[in-house]
Amino acid sequence: MTKKTRLLIPGPTPVPPAVAEVMARPLIGHRTQEFADLYARLQGKLKKVFGTENDVHILTSSGTGGMEAAVANTVNPGDKVLALVTGKFGERFTELARVYGAEVDALEFGWGNAVALDQVEERLKKGKYKAVLATHNETATTVINDIKGIGALTRSADALLLVDAVSSLGGAELLADDWGVDVLVTASQKALMVPPGLAMVSVSPRAGEAVNQARSPRYYFSLAAAKKSIAKYNTPYTPAVSLFAGLDVALDMILAEGLEQVYRRHNTFAAATRQAMNALGLKLVAPETSASPLVTGVWAPEGMNADDLRRKIVQDYGILIAGGQDQFKGRVFRIAHMGYVDAVDILGTIAALEISLAHVGQPAKFGSGVAAAQAVFAGRK
Ligand SMILES: Cc1ncc(COP(=O)(O)O)c(C=O)c1O
Repeated sequence: MTKKTRLLIPGPTPVPPAVAEVMARPLIGHRTQEFADLYARLQGKLKKVFGTENDVHILTSSGTGGMEAAVANTVNPGDKVLALVTGKFGERFTELARVYGAEVDALEFGWGNAVALDQVEERLKKGKYKAVLATHNETATTVINDIKGIGALTRSADALLLVDAVSSLGGAELLADDWGVDVLVTASQKALMVPPGLAMVSVSPRAGEAVNQARSPRYYFSLAAAKKSIAKYNTPYTPAVSLFAGLDVALDMILAEGLEQVYRRHNTFAAATRQAMNALGLKLVAPETSASPLVTGVWAPEGMNADDLRRKIVQDYGILIAGGQDQFKGRVFRIAHMGYVDAVDILGTIAALEISLAHVGQPAKFGSGVAAAQAVFAGRK
């Protein structure tokens, strides 16, 4: 029998049938009124999800391209930048700014910890920074950071705040304008339920001034070029038209459910997954206070390679969960619950995990994790 594939990884995430269907329709030309109408519609919807009144540029690229656009267009060689690093993606943002010649101070909080606001405040008092780089949802460590708190600090320090919300936007609240985020970056293949290929970038008026004065070389990722085009609801280069169409439908789904309910649903899935792991005696990577609503990281039991367990689960049940990255490789597995995932996916994953733990020599009390998750679902309906 051909197995069903279930993606419980932090991107790409499952694509709803309605999104897949619209992407399979005959293509439209991108220099047409029909495309301009589509891009205009997307602007209206994205502004709600981003919590912004500003333009949200859609770039045909993965999320890292959006991060590169954020840096290349606002940070000049020699500028002082403070990078808040809580894991792999904070490290990536740091590297990117260094590649563009910025003088980067990396404030490291350690894998598994969230950004400590008092340390940020202290750094911002000590030095003058052009920009601060932060990760909203650190996918590698399954920790979510307090962007609202960071935004209050960068505002009073008069620094630009660039935020990587690649694995959170559309699944966890982030209000760009209210929270003082100058450049907010996300991507299509995570909570937004669209295949990989689109990065979205909002630009505040303050960041817009920096764009106008930017000196770093850039071409494809020029936000000045994107700004010129968006005035006519167009893009400078050929956009991934099908993905734009898919995003249109995915955003309708999110907005029809209501952002508050979407965030609540992700929180419930996270709580169910965390309770299940607790019931199974497995240790969680993220502390309760900064646990991601989108993905849950779990330490493999002593003496077990997390990747052996993952292989067993995908082999027997077609459920793909993520492994640990870099220093967490083999030691951590991650269950993503973002986007088009439902309670049955979560319960099924926990059940498959229980059986697979037994297969790799870590017997679990069958049903204990599932029961803990059921209790969460029952209590929150
Ligand atoms: C927090 C975060 N930032 C950036 C990226 C990079 O995005 P992409 O792989 O789409 O370039 C990811 C991808 O997993 C991510 O989770």
